[in-house]
Amino acid sequence: MAAGLFVVFEGIDGSGKSTLTKAIWDDLGTQALLLREPTGLHTGKLIREKLAAPNTMSQKDWIQLFSDDRALDVEQHLTPALAAGKIVLMDRYYYSTAAYQGQNPPDLSALQIVQSQQALFPRPDMVVYLEISPDAALSRLGSRAGLEIFETKSQLERIAKNYDSIIPKEALRLDAAKPVATNVEKVKKAIGKKVPI
Ligand code: TYD
Repeated sequence: MAAGLFVVFEGIDGSGKSTLTKAIWDDLGTQALLLREPTGLHTGKLIREKLAAPNTMSQKDWIQLFSDDRALDVEQHLTPALAAGKIVLMDRYYYSTAAYQGQNPPDLSALQIVQSQQALFPRPDMVVYLEISPDAALSRLGSRAGLEIFETKSQLERIAKNYDSIIPKEALRLDAAKPVATNVEKVKKAIGKKVPI
């Protein structure tokens, strides 16, 4: 049986990551599975409630919530799909926890979070990073109602800087301003170098 391929998509809110992953999934068909964090499981629903309203949750508690959600998703969806030889497209993974929850000392940095997450969860075979400036991302988000707590300029600037410190150097970096079809082709080409599609 084919070995499967684990591809993770990352980027700040407003980068168009969800549109891109969905388009790639549509194109690849049944050989691919699209997963998304926060998940649709009870652990992910709890996170979405917390994201919708201002709160004073600690960094440690945020990391715990995302890790609990990830652990269930890995066990129930990721591991079986890879074992069945699927190409798994994961819309956000532990790089999001590092970039979004990473803070200045005395809290944990993005790098420290990524290192502890790597000890807990499977490593992706490929990371795709959708690059966009916080200003351009915000103007895309501006047309959307009900912004979440991380969707402000200062938060997105902190998150983009964190991403720069942790995204692997071998990641496929895409320009989010390019047409979706162009980026779909780039990702398919990269996937096609690793597995037959
Ligand atoms: P997102 O994929 O942007 O969902 P939606 O399109 O419904 O807004 O994810 C929701 C938010 O969760 C986003 O602001 C990023 C944040 N997030 C973290 O802070 N840490 C994490 O580990 C993950 C997976 C997401």
